[in-house]
Amino acid sequence: KIYRASTTAPVNIAVIKYWGKRDPALNLPTNSSLSVTLSQSDLRTHTTASCSPAFDHPDTLLLNNAPQSLSTPRSLACLRSLRALRSGLEDADPSLPKLSTLPLRLASANNFPTAAGLASSAAGFAALVRAIADLYALRQSPTELSLIARQGSGSACRSLLGGYVAWDHGTRADGLDSRARLVAPKAHWPDMRALILVVSAAKKGVSSTAGMQTTVQTSSLFQTRAKEVVPKRMAEMEHAILSKDFETFAKVTMRESNSFHATCLDTDPPIFYLNDVSRAAIKAVEETNDKAGRTIAAYTFDAGPNAVIYYQKADEDAVLKTFLPILRQKEGWGETDTKIDDPGPASPQVVEALEAGVSRVILTSVGEGPISVQEH
Ligand code: DP6
Repeated sequence: KIYRASTTAPVNIAVIKYWGKRDPALNLPTNSSLSVTLSQSDLRTHTTASCSPAFDHPDTLLLNNAPQSLSTPRSLACLRSLRALRSGLEDADPSLPKLSTLPLRLASANNFPTAAGLASSAAGFAALVRAIADLYALRQSPTELSLIARQGSGSACRSLLGGYVAWDHGTRADGLDSRARLVAPKAHWPDMRALILVVSAAKKGVSSTAGMQTTVQTSSLFQTRAKEVVPKRMAEMEHAILSKDFETFAKVTMRESNSFHATCLDTDPPIFYLNDVSRAAIKAVEETNDKAGRTIAAYTFDAGPNAVIYYQKADEDAVLKTFLPILRQKEGWGETDTKIDDPGPASPQVVEALEAGVSRVILTSVGEGPISVQEH
């Protein structure tokens, strides 16, 4: 007999950034963070977890059909915690099959290029934890499971929930209060949209895990950011989301992204995640907001040059107009339309930089948390 469960899990993009660990082994952050979970129709990881007495191998993981190591401390911590919870159920009810002792076979696939730098580790660990929790019939809530996913990758804890999600830094040394919390479900503010400019990066820069450690050790801006700047912005952001105040949401998102990248630049040696294409995307958003006479779009960048631009459905036409030349060139929009060179509201230099450096545009929206896929 083979026991099996499948799940899909979403990507999340932070508007208040996690950067810095107070405990690198447990992935405990120095500051809280907040993200928007993105729709799984565009970006998701699908994971099937199975176990069987017939499997005569140790735990295995395939990612997009390629074998991956499960013996990293992060993966081992996740598997150990999930097995411990299952073993608790088995001890309480001896009639349950002893799944906790069986080897696991995990198969994951992303519906987006893993190398594009689109928070694949967040969706990946969230899907792994959710799939095994389903396989083991665990009754823990998404927030409780987020404690486990956090040990795989910090940002993964936020992908256990949909909508608008906070990760509270917590103060306990064991990390039991450092977990994801629902700020508002997708249905509270379903009109949130995200436009992602995938920037064709030649090589991968400094990983977030390594980068944030160097920042903690060397940046003098970092302490103020973690202790003063972020706590204030967390409160502003939660309030903006609860009152669907896009203007505040947008302003805090942009200042927060800039603060995070300033801390990276203040790291020794300095870390540069933004490039000329990223800066053109910032310019495009500023032009969009100037033309509209109010803030209708907000940019944010993670540990790489890709731009994520949040806006509301009602402003879609105005925002997409800025990016129309890129959407036509990269995504084949309006190919029947002959005005391919319509510059739109973005200035020619901005359009030129984006045309040269953007490889793909993804249009998506706020989405649900992990979805369990029925097996039979
Ligand atoms: C810039 O979650 O990838 O995307 O915990 O070491 O796996 P580890 O780091 P990771 O860092 C994400 C950093 C960020 C900001 C964010 O998502 O909050």
